[in-house]
Amino acid sequence: MSVYAVVDLGSKKIAVAIARRQKDGNLRVLAVHHQPSRGIERGRIVNLLEASELLKEAVEEAERNVDLQVNDIFINIGGKEAEMIQGTGRTYVVGNAITKREKRRAVENAGAVSLPPDREVLHILPFIYIVNDMKVEEPEGMLGNSLDVKVQVVTHSNIALRNLEQLVKRVGFFPKKVILNHVAVPEALITEEDREAGVMVVDMGAETTDVSLIHRKMLYRIFTYEVGGKDFTKDISVKFGITMKEAERMKIKHVSLLDEEDESGSLPVTLLDGSQRVLTYSDLTSTILPRAERLFAAMKQDIEAVGWQLPRTNGIVLTGGGAQLKGLREYMARFFSSVVRLSGPSNFHGILDFPPDHRGPEFSLLVGLLHFTRNMEGWEGRGDSLLQRIGKIFRKK
Ligand SMILES: Nc1ncnc2c1ncn2[C@@H]1O[C@H](COP(=O)(O)OP(=O)(O)OP(=O)(O)O)[C@@H](O)[C@H]1O
Ligand SMILES: [Mg+2]
Repeated sequence: MSVYAVVDLGSKKIAVAIARRQKDGNLRVLAVHHQPSRGIERGRIVNLLEASELLKEAVEEAERNVDLQVNDIFINIGGKEAEMIQGTGRTYVVGNAITKREKRRAVENAGAVSLPPDREVLHILPFIYIVNDMKVEEPEGMLGNSLDVKVQVVTHSNIALRNLEQLVKRVGFFPKKVILNHVAVPEALITEEDREAGVMVVDMGAETTDVSLIHRKMLYRIFTYEVGGKDFTKDISVKFGITMKEAERMKIKHVSLLDEEDESGSLPVTLLDGSQRVLTYSDLTSTILPRAERLFAAMKQDIEAVGWQLPRTNGIVLTGGGAQLKGLREYMARFFSSVVRLSGPSNFHGILDFPPDHRGPEFSLLVGLLHFTRNMEGWEGRGDSLLQRIGKIFRKK
């Protein structure tokens, strides 16, 4: 079976997992590697050459760990330019029971929405099947004359997609599939019960925060905010005139949004001009708090605008590197009057050997991407497109 790489190209880090699909359908993870990224800002490519150079380095490093070459790459994309629209599709069933083929045909029909020339379909996510006017969960094997399906169609900017392809091509591949962050992340952390009850998944990275609302087992709405953990660091650095490195250290070690912390303790710091200053814990906390508050206020407005009723759901699942800010979970719980659980990837169903040292909240997307590839049907059987073949020839140096 083919060996492939799954890539989370983040603003702060590139994470790569190499996996092989087994005959039983499970994925065996052979290697995970991560390293700092460059050329990506707020989830968008700002320096394609630099980003591709580092991606190449990261993939090759992961390959060296297992002494294997990967055949394909799956990669994530950020959601600032993503949109969701609903579509419906129908197909007629002649004679026999409904099979995968009818399902696929109905879904393809539903995804055939008309789009402006600068957008294209990234995902078609079925959420309701209807056999002869009756809603069903799984139509396969059923008898009926017609099969209708309702889907969420996720579209993205085609220039953003083409540029991501360009980036991957420079590494010697054509991406087998580009996957939206919001579609993948929930797979890594939510339970079947969350899916039924509804849940809000928040991935706070370094420069972006992605929100996915899951309702009745489907992706209901997505939001992307251009705010992340790095902005907190920057606030500290700018306000007190200290380096980003020092500000990051202070943030991780001394910032806490918890009420009960002793806020009067003193922290000596060296400023950019070499002079010394003493800060208190509350100096740091009060610097960060307004940004967290603005971000949460924007989220609250957005979820309320789509009628999301947090108390009637399983609350919020918080993940991503930036989510580890001390007290952020508690502050969020108070702000939204909701249960918030801070989580790294927790669902490893069908994913074997994922290394324990990569299970922190910053790796949720990577695991979510692995789930996506595991659930994606039929891609291994299909031949490569011309572009994919060209990519592979190019890689054989
Ligand atoms: N213990 C901690 N406390 C607070 N913040 C932390 C902690 N550990 C990591 N972070 C923050 O996590 C952020 C990195 O998170 P992550 O690796 O999820 O980003 P990314 O996926 O590369 O970025 P993005 O998703 O925005 O493109 C950094 O801003 C870092 O400051
Ligand atoms: Mg991220």
